[in-house]
Amino acid sequence: MEAVLGYAHGNDTGPVPGREDGLAILHEFTDKPGLRAHALAVESAMRAYARRFAEDEEAWGLVGLLHDFDYERWPSRVDHPWRGSEILEARGYPEWFRRAILSHADYTGVRRETKLELALFACDELCGFLTACALVTHGKSLREVTVKSVRKKMKSRSFAASVSRDDIVHGAEQLGIDLDEHIEFVRDAMQSVAPRLGLAGGRGG
Ligand SMILES: [Fe+2]
Repeated sequence: MEAVLGYAHGNDTGPVPGREDGLAILHEFTDKPGLRAHALAVESAMRAYARRFAEDEEAWGLVGLLHDFDYERWPSRVDHPWRGSEILEARGYPEWFRRAILSHADYTGVRRETKLELALFACDELCGFLTACALVTHGKSLREVTVKSVRKKMKSRSFAASVSRDDIVHGAEQLGIDLDEHIEFVRDAMQSVAPRLGLAGGRGG
């Protein structure tokens, strides 16, 4: 049986299904290990920020887990994340949940307003960048990634060139978290699931 979580969000208080449901959707639509790992990474960061802000950890984690689930099948701007939003609606996910996901892409025109929406945007690109940083360490390990090394790599245009530095900087700003602190916080959150991200180094340590 799937647990149903209550979650208040302004006037829209619709419940969301539980994590098992979200994981099943992710696996149904996403095969690529890198994209699955990205979903888990953003989930871990969103859970950590939910705890920090005393928000609903399960709901925030699920938004992180599902924010890109339609991307593998429908990567174009015409479809992503709109297709995913339609699928989530059909499967009973409430409007506030889908709105948060739509707001993570600038081109949807859905403005980021809530803490949930600001956190998702702040974590998304940074998770990708931290993954790239970990993959070039000696042991392919998040443990070897320091804030200083991340800041240095952000200045190198050729490194992980597809990741928007502006999004990382503005994301932290809009969330109201100092950038160094944000980098460290998200890295630590990802570190907690590093074996599942393939970034634990060695043999799964
Ligand atoms: Fe993403």
